[in-house]
Parts: sequence; C-alpha cells; structure tokens
Amino acid sequence: MTMTDMGSIYRVKDPLIFTIYGASGDLAKLKIFPAIFALAEQKRFPEALAIVGFARSQKSQEDFRKDFADSVRQHYKDSWGDYQNQILESLLKNVHYFSGQYDSETDFDKFKEFLGEKCISKQQPQHLMYFSVPPFVVKPILTQVAAVFEPKQNDIRLILEKPFGSDETTAQALFHFLSHHYCESQLYFLDHYLGKKAVRSLIPLRHMNRILNSMLKGREIANIQISAIEPMGVGERVGYFDEVGTIKDVVQSHLLQVLAMLTMSIPIDDEAERVQEERTAILNALDFKTDTNHLALGQYEGYKAEDKKVKNSNTETFAALRLSINRETWHDVPIFLRTGKKLHTKHTYLVVELKKFSFQDAEQEPNRVIIEFYPHESIQIRLLDEDGATLRKGEIAASESIACYGDYCLPEHGLLLLDVARGEKRFFLGMPEIVASWHIIDQVIDFMRVANLKPEIYKAGCEGPAGQHNLMKGTNFKWYQPS
Ligand SMILES: NC(=O)c1ccc[n+]([C@@H]2O[C@H](COP(=O)([O-])OP(=O)(O)OC[C@H]3O[C@@H](n4cnc5c(N)ncnc54)[C@H](OP(=O)(O)O)[C@@H]3O)[C@@H](O)[C@H]2O)c1
Repeated sequence: MTMTDMGSIYRVKDPLIFTIYGASGDLAKLKIFPAIFALAEQKRFPEALAIVGFARSQKSQEDFRKDFADSVRQHYKDSWGDYQNQILESLLKNVHYFSGQYDSETDFDKFKEFLGEKCISKQQPQHLMYFSVPPFVVKPILTQVAAVFEPKQNDIRLILEKPFGSDETTAQALFHFLSHHYCESQLYFLDHYLGKKAVRSLIPLRHMNRILNSMLKGREIANIQISAIEPMGVGERVGYFDEVGTIKDVVQSHLLQVLAMLTMSIPIDDEAERVQEERTAILNALDFKTDTNHLALGQYEGYKAEDKKVKNSNTETFAALRLSINRETWHDVPIFLRTGKKLHTKHTYLVVELKKFSFQDAEQEPNRVIIEFYPHESIQIRLLDEDGATLRKGEIAASESIACYGDYCLPEHGLLLLDVARGEKRFFLGMPEIVASWHIIDQVIDFMRVANLKPEIYKAGCEGPAGQHNLMKGTNFKWYQPS
C-alpha cells in the first residue's frame, strides 16, 4: 500500500478465523461487533470465515448470536433496514461462541479442537485474536495461546488493547514476555485514535501538500493544543480508572500519538517501521518541565461518592500538561494537552496556532490549522482576512470533512482490523514508541508524587478547572474554544 491509496477497497481473500477474547464484555459489544458487521456489509471478508467469541460466561451459540445481533442493531439503529438485516442473518451463520477459562490449558486444547471442527477451509486459516479483556487477563491468555497454537509456526496475529503496561518498567517486562513467545510481526498494539480518519490523513496530507507541510514545521508554529473532553464520568470503570487516572488512561497513548503524527518528520518511505521510527523520535524528544505551571489536575465534584473504594481518592479526572519537543526546530513551541471527564461537551480536536509577523498586534487572532476528530472529522485552515477596514476570520477549508470513500467508510475498529488482516502496521504502535511514551509520562507521575499535587475540584458540566489557564501564563496564548 502506498501513502496515496488510503481510500482503496481491500478485501481479505484467505480463510480467516477471528477470535475475540472477552467477547462478553463492553468493548466487544460497543466497538468490535459493529466493526465486524461493517466489514461484512462492505464485503471485505472471505467466504471461509469464522467469528468466534471466547469468554468464561456460560452461554449458548444462540445467546451469543443474539448478543452480537443486538449490539449491531443498536449501534446502527439510525440506518437499519432490510438490506442490513440480510447481511446480519448471513454473517450470524459464521458467528460462534466458546466458553472457557483464560488460564486453562485444557480449555485451550478444547478450544483448538472446537475451531478445527468449524473446518472453514482445507487451507490453513489466518488467525486474528483480539484481546478485549482487562489487562491482568492478557498474560494468561498469551501463555495458553503460545502453548497450544504454536504461534511462531502459524499465521496468528494478536491485537492487544492499551494499556500496554502501567509504566516504562512494566511495559518492558510485557515486551520481554511477548518477544519470548511471539515474533514482533505478529503483535498489533492498538490505539483506536490511530483508526481515526483525520489522524491517518495527516500522513498523506503532509506528504502531498508542500504548503500544508511547510505550515506545520516548528519554525512556523506558535503553539499546539490538543483537547479531548467529554461529559461522561467514569461510570462502572471507577475501580480500574481510580488506579490509573486520566494521564495514563488518555494522555499516555491517545494524545501523545496524535502529537507524534502531527510533528514527526515525514518518513522517507511507506514502511511501517519508518513511520514508527519517526513517531518514536518525537516521543523520545518530549520534554516536561517539573514546574506546577506545566501541569494542572482536576477531579469532578461527586467522583469520590461514586464508590466507597474511592472516597478518599486524589485521582485526576482532568489533566492539562505543557510539554515541548527537544529538537532544533521545535524547542520553543509550547505544546498544551488537556483531557477531562464530566465537562460541558464531548469534543476532540487539535489546534495549531501559527506564528504572527512582528508587526501584528499581539491581541489579533492567529491563523490556525484545526483538525477535529469528534463529533466530526475535519481539517480546516483558518486565515485572517481583511474586509474593508475590518479584520475578519476567513476560513479556507483544506478538507471540510473527511470524505467517506473506500476504506474510509469503515469505523475506527473496522479500519484497524482490516489493517491487521493485510499486515499494515503503520497505524499500530511499535514497542519503542510505547516505551518512549511511558518514559515521559513516568516523569509527570513522579512529579505529581514528589510535589504532592492534589487535583482541583471542578463542577460537572463546566469547562474544567481554572488551573488549566496557568499553563499559558507568560504567553499570549489562550485555550482555543471551538465555535
Ligand atoms: N470499553 C471501552 O470502551 C474500552 C476502550 C478502550 C480500551 N479498552 C480496553 O479493552 C479491554 C476490554 O475492555 P472492556 O470494557 O470490554 O472490559 P470488561 O467488559 O471489563 O471485560 C471484558 C470481559 O473480560 C472478562 N473479565 C472481566 N473481569 C475479569 C476478571 N476479573 N477476570 C477474568 N475475566 C474477566 C469478562 O468476561 P467473562 O467473565 O465472560 O470471561 C468481561 O466480559 C480493556 O483492556 C480496556 O482497557 C476498553
């Protein structure tokens, strides 16, 4: 695949067995089943296909097919019709369920037999295995798969969900374990932000447009802001979330990946290794100043009452960080990242504010490149313009909304699953970039501990704690508020 054919149609031809570990869980129902349906609707699957759910919960084939169908219908309820019903009925014939323990070799032996009985083809199938389970269940499954499926001799590809470890040391230990049992080419470390079309578009857009590429160089940029805010609280994830906090949950992978995709040098070729190397170079160059004006923490009012286990918790549900990139052309460009829960709206966007001429008024709005990921995926360039005597904000849209064509019509997880089937790794994380991300996040977490920082309490539905504005002290910048 070249950098220019991202809108192409790719169909999987070889026999495929797609196993979902933790198939009774939330991620499976919310994201994976709808993505599988979208792939079936677009006829991307081969004839020889088995979709297999594996979990401990006891349920019949019929119950599992019903769960699968319900989640798909719910997800696409606004566009559901007879055609979708036909596709679903046909897909369900290939959907199966196996109940087993994640750490039992006997159950995995039986599971292998079960898959053999499906006998989808005489040809050896490709196995995709999606780990949709809590992090501590991953290793037991990996151990059993290694013992029973002889992964180094077979085409087995593992799709691992973040978090990849909980700090640099545990991530290294996980990779050491994985490297012992599997080849690196079999491992797909998934961050669903890299399934977002606007994030993926950054590579071809910068590669094919020297204008945009020149604009997005460090020497042209005044500051970068990335915001991912949402009105929901932690809900049932409170137990997991309280151990982790939003810096590890959202900043460590999602926001740092978006930043790396924006600021990395354009790779010299299409190879996934080159793309991962360039992202790693940026992540390794990130700098965090241990200063309370470079970090703001918040916790929404009512968080401590959500579960008695968290009644004394200081876990942050909001965080804003100021970073920089320790590289010649980037070192004086402040980077502001923020993310939070129970805020006034759900919005995910990236803003690049361009430098002004020295004769321009400091108060004047800057020119901006704005990339939205949610609720719409779009890339806009907003330039100042003169209208008579009045300055107005003109808008030149590079791509008002990301067009839906070819693979781009698929949801995030659909695009990523297709990538795995075709062996495309540019939009998956490499181990060195995961380690580099943890390295910087560990410094932030360490600073929070040493400085004994406590989160500022903020009201649900507001724009976040006031402390976030301290990050911009001494600059002419403000958090950009989309209209
Ligand atoms: N939910 C999301 O939107 C989301 C987003 C990004 C990343 N993720 C990541 O994706 C993974 C799965 O998320 P999820 O929300 O689907 O998780 P989940 O619903 O908590 O768990 C998935 C399944 O794992 C099994 N399980 C749960 N707790 C277990 C335990 N203590 N011991 C053994 N098995 C257990 C359960 O199946 P059985 O009891 O039937 O075996 C459960 O249905 C997690 O690593 C999460 O961090 C989730």
